[in-house]
Parts: sequence; structure tokens; C-alpha cells
Amino acid sequence: MTQKRNILCIGAGYVGGPTMAVIAHKCPQYRVTVVDVNARRIGQWNSERLPIYEPGLDDLIRATRGKNLFFSTDIAGGIRDNDIIFVSVNTPTKSYGEGAGMAADLQFWEATARQILQYAESPKIVVEKSTLPVKTALALERILGNGGHEVRFDVLSNPEFMAEGSAIRDLEEPDRVLIGSRGTPGGLAARQTLVDLYAHWVPREKIVTSNIWSSELSKLVSNAFLAQRISSINAVSALCEATEADVSEVARAVGMDSRVGPKFLNASVGFGGSCFKKDILNLVYLCRRYGLEEVADYWEGVVRINNYQLARFTRTMLRAMFNTLTGKKICLLGFAFKANTGDTRESPAIYIARNLLAERAVVVVSDPQALANAAADLKDADGQVSFVADPYEATAGCHAVAVMTEWDLYRELDFERIFETMLKPAFIFDGRNVLDHRRCFEIGFNVYPIGKPPLTHFS
Ligand SMILES: NC(=O)c1ccc[n+]([C@@H]2O[C@H](COP(=O)([O-])OP(=O)(O)OC[C@H]3O[C@@H](n4cnc5c(N)ncnc54)[C@H](O)[C@@H]3O)[C@@H](O)[C@H]2O)c1
Repeated sequence: MTQKRNILCIGAGYVGGPTMAVIAHKCPQYRVTVVDVNARRIGQWNSERLPIYEPGLDDLIRATRGKNLFFSTDIAGGIRDNDIIFVSVNTPTKSYGEGAGMAADLQFWEATARQILQYAESPKIVVEKSTLPVKTALALERILGNGGHEVRFDVLSNPEFMAEGSAIRDLEEPDRVLIGSRGTPGGLAARQTLVDLYAHWVPREKIVTSNIWSSELSKLVSNAFLAQRISSINAVSALCEATEADVSEVARAVGMDSRVGPKFLNASVGFGGSCFKKDILNLVYLCRRYGLEEVADYWEGVVRINNYQLARFTRTMLRAMFNTLTGKKICLLGFAFKANTGDTRESPAIYIARNLLAERAVVVVSDPQALANAAADLKDADGQVSFVADPYEATAGCHAVAVMTEWDLYRELDFERIFETMLKPAFIFDGRNVLDHRRCFEIGFNVYPIGKPPLTHFS
């Protein structure tokens, strides 16, 4: 089969790997290469044990790797040999200097831009896949326009909307694909090339085009809206607990309004993940830079409520367990920031574990996919934390269980068996509202859901 296009992705992470696997699978006539500075990560992509867990990913990689999908550390060669270059490097929150704790750290992105400029010998379409502050494409154009040679670069914005845990399904059947470009003939032609690529499997009406700044901003705003919904229902959960209302009943009634819709209205311990907080803070920083203080304050409130919800969860545990957690053994069921991923970046479980350790509790962490990442996250808490894959073994001898991740397997656990092996009175704190609370109560647990009256055996 002829190879119609050569595609490169710089950054073999949670976005770059799955995205390129789906492109390679859907477009067998394209040759797709993924490069990264991290040789260990590339080694894992080339091995039987991939660096990330994502349902359906193993099969996709098996079907494409070595055929039209390749993982390599040869960044220079990759830039030379490919004509469409996706940039999918990390853009974490800056931890130093001006904007520390708020702005996006663009050092990895800029290093990539300079590498593209250094090694390109033929025209390139450079696609921003990373989430970036609005107007970053302008900076990219300025860097690429300063090479002193004749290579033509067209910059596009194509933010990724996939969610970890359902990445492959989201990539195969996206709600929309957004492509932002300049309105110049070159920009429009580049945009068409990317539209043609996605049109191999995405219905044409779901491929939307826009100006490049709208595209960059849409990604930040999209994540801000999603996180805002979580903070909204979480704020209501606190009020429910104070008033004996039930947040699930409130969410159901509110979500049945077709203008609101039922999705993303589950109250929980709080949101985590590498994106929501970072992207909102980035949005807040941008607003302040443009002098829009009220707008910045509004969006910052979403993060404030999330922090409040996390703090509230440990406070509930402390109050319920007689105002002392010292020496008490508490099992965290789940450590991933959500189900169906091993990713623990900004996971609520990290904050809860740290709060419990500050109260001098003894923490047992259990998770079907995230134990290695959890151990790295808590490596400074030697001796006070253990990591146990089997949930029955993990909960044995504990005073309390706290559900941190909504893994399906936790709904199906034999809680009678767990109750038998725990110390009494035994507590469950359901940070995801996934358990059958009435049933757990009848078994003998004191049950503390989010946003609902607790079910306790105390008079
Ligand atoms: N994770 C998500 O769910 C998600 C979803 C949508 C968008 N995004 C955005 O996509 C981007 C990537 O996120 P991620 O989760 O894949 O990050 P990640 O940290 O998993 O992967 C980024 C990779 O880029 C590599 N890298 C950094 N600098 C490099 C360089 N100069 N040359 C080559 N490789 C380099 C790193 O080694 C790393 O492997 C971020 O901007 C993020 O905000 C993430």
C-alpha cells in the first residue's frame, strides 16, 4: 500500500501515544512516527508493557506497531522525514518565576519549536496538540519564521478533547474535532490537509474549523466548563449534607432539564488529573494578564471549591472517627484520578493520603492499575504507607475504608467479607458515591457518602 503522508508526533505521553495509535489504525496508508526525549518511555512503547494503561490501547498498538506506527528517540530524523508534525509535549503549571503556580510552563513546547526549526529541510505543517495559552501559535510562528532559510511552516491548532479512561473510544468517535488555522491561503490549505486526515473516520459535520485563537481558547474553556460542573455539584453536596437533602436526587432533578443535561453531575471527593486544575489556572492567569480581574476570580472559584471539597472529605473522616486518626489504619480504595486509567497526576487520593498522614494515620493504598504511580507519589512517606493490590488484603485490619476512585470492581466487592476482617466500629467514606450505602449499613458499617445523610449505628 502506498504511504500517502508521513506524520510525526513529538511527545509520546498520554495524548501522543493513543492519538497516533488511532490515526495509524484508521489510516493504514499513512506512516506515523512518535518520538520523545524520554528513551525509557519509548522503550516501553516498543515493549509488551506499555507506559500507560488505557482500555483498548494494547490491541491497537499490537495491530499497528511495526506496520505503520513507530516509536523512536530520533527527533531530528523524525522532523526531517515527516511533513505533518503534531506537538504533544507536556505543558505543566509553571513552578518558578513570574506566574509560578498559575501560568503554563512553555519550556518543553519552545524546545520543540526550536528543534523543528533546526532540523526541518522541507515544508511542514506544525500542529499544536498540547493545550496551550491562547496566542501561543503566534509565538510558534515567530520562532519558526526566524530560521534564516526558506522552509515553509504552517501552524495549526488542533486541541485534543479525549478523556483518559475512555481515550480510545473518544478518539475513534469524537464529539468533535477542532482545527484552527490562519485565514491565509497557506493556512487554509494546511487546514484542509488535516481535515482530510480526520475525515478518514470522523463524520465531516463533526470536524469543525475556526480561527486559530478560538481553537486554542476553546480547549481551555472546555476544560473550565467541565470542571465548573463538578465544582457546582460538589458545592451543592456540602449544602445537602447540612440540610439532609440528597445530592443524587438533586442532581437527577436538575439534570432532567434538557438545557442542563444529566452528564457530569456526580458529586465526589473532587476532580483530579493533569488537566483541569492546570488549564483553569492557566485561564485565570490569562484573564489577569488582560486585566479581567472579575473573570479571573470567577474561574478561580472552581479550583477553590475543589480544594474545599478535598479538605472537607478528610474533615468528615476526622469528625466521624472521634476526632483522632492517630495510629488508625485507613485503606484508600483506588488511587488513580479516575477509573480505567493508571494515571495519578493531581489525583484526589494524593491529597487525602497526605492529609491522613498529617493526622498520623497509617494508610494502605489499593488500586488495580495505579500502584506504581502511587508509590512514586508517596515515596517520601516511608513506613506509614503500604501498597496492596488485593482489596480484601488491603482492607483487613483497617478502621476505615475510603473510596477514592470509581473502579467498577469496588461496586462488586464482598463487603460482608471485608466487614468481618476490619476493626469495629468499621467506617466507609465513599468519595465517589459508588457503593450500595444501605446494604453496607445493614452489614454493620457506618457509612459516609458525599452529599447525603450518613448512615450510622450510633444513637
Ligand atoms: N492527558 C490528557 O488527558 C490530555 C487531554 C487533552 C490534552 N492534553 C494536553 O496534551 C499535552 C500532553 O499531555 P500528556 O498527558 O500526554 O503529557 P505527558 O507528560 O504524558 O507526555 C508528554 C511527553 O512529551 C515529552 N517531551 C517533553 N519535551 C519534549 C521534547 N522537547 N521533545 C520530545 N519529547 C518531549 C515528555 O518526555 C513526555 O513523554 C499537554 O499539553 C496536556 O495539557 C492532555
